[in-house]
Amino acid sequence: MKKVTKAVFPAAGMGTRFLPATKANPKEMLPIVDKPLIQYAAEEAAAAGITDLIFIIGRTKRAIADHFDKAYELEVELETKGKLRALEELRGILPSNVNYIFIRQAEALGLGHAVLCAQPAVNDEPFAVILADDLIDGEPGATRQMSELYNYYQCSLVGVQHVAPEETGAYGIVAAAPMAERLSRVTRIVEKPRPEEAPSNLAVVGRYILTPRIFHHLRRIERGAGGELQLTDAIAALLQEQQVMAYEFTGTRYDCGSKLGYLEATVEYALKHPELADAFKGYLEKRFCVDCSQPKRE
Ligand code: UTP
Repeated sequence: MKKVTKAVFPAAGMGTRFLPATKANPKEMLPIVDKPLIQYAAEEAAAAGITDLIFIIGRTKRAIADHFDKAYELEVELETKGKLRALEELRGILPSNVNYIFIRQAEALGLGHAVLCAQPAVNDEPFAVILADDLIDGEPGATRQMSELYNYYQCSLVGVQHVAPEETGAYGIVAAAPMAERLSRVTRIVEKPRPEEAPSNLAVVGRYILTPRIFHHLRRIERGAGGELQLTDAIAALLQEQQVMAYEFTGTRYDCGSKLGYLEATVEYALKHPELADAFKGYLEKRFCVDCSQPKRE
């Protein structure tokens, strides 16, 4: 039985929805309060027992590799100035016992192509795919939930969530036959269908566990929705020969690739930040006359 020990972080997209912030900086380096999105994703992977973190980076993405490098000069500077708290934070960026692998996707040809670029590092093993701009606040994390399911079922899994019917055109959408609580068997998957053509409103959001057979299909797919090589199309082909399951993970997901989702995540994470929460609640209460001690969740 194989366990999932590798995760791929596609981070070579253009980030057009976040321009101009993403002109020279990768979207995945946008901070939610004080940590970049890519670090939340790396921590989620490490908490799932992943030991090989494979980043697919592109133009303007050097900051991601720099972020995970040891910053000798900065560490010495902080130590000399006695800023031990900051030093501790800095050292904590790197989960220990993990390998960092950086692969360049020279041209942003699509998510499917980005995942294919990871093949030399993944080889013949099952692996997770984590889209850092889909920030999922869950305990345990979504990747851990899904890799535990993989250990049991030994098949590919896509993380899904119900979306509003008018939003199907922004996602890969599955048709699925229920199997167990939160778990169903995917019978069909379509990228960005119009609402009237969508097989359901169950959308794939930023978390996958895939068998290495996906590479076979990724090499064969043609340009799909938006003229890009779509991971969804390779999963549709994989479905013809292997089981793929859809899993409704527990946790709250924020679409940090959109400005609104990013702002929502920022507010929620600030409201539970150990150093900021009280002051930030105080600000919101004063500014908007709301009572932040009673959060209203849907
Ligand atoms: P998105 O669909 O969010 O595209 O990609 P994007 O280019 O990042 O952002 P927008 O839509 O233009 O604002 C989903 C994920 O796939 C990665 C992105 O970095 C993101 O994590 N991706 C996409 C690649 O790594 N390479 C690609 O060619 C395309």
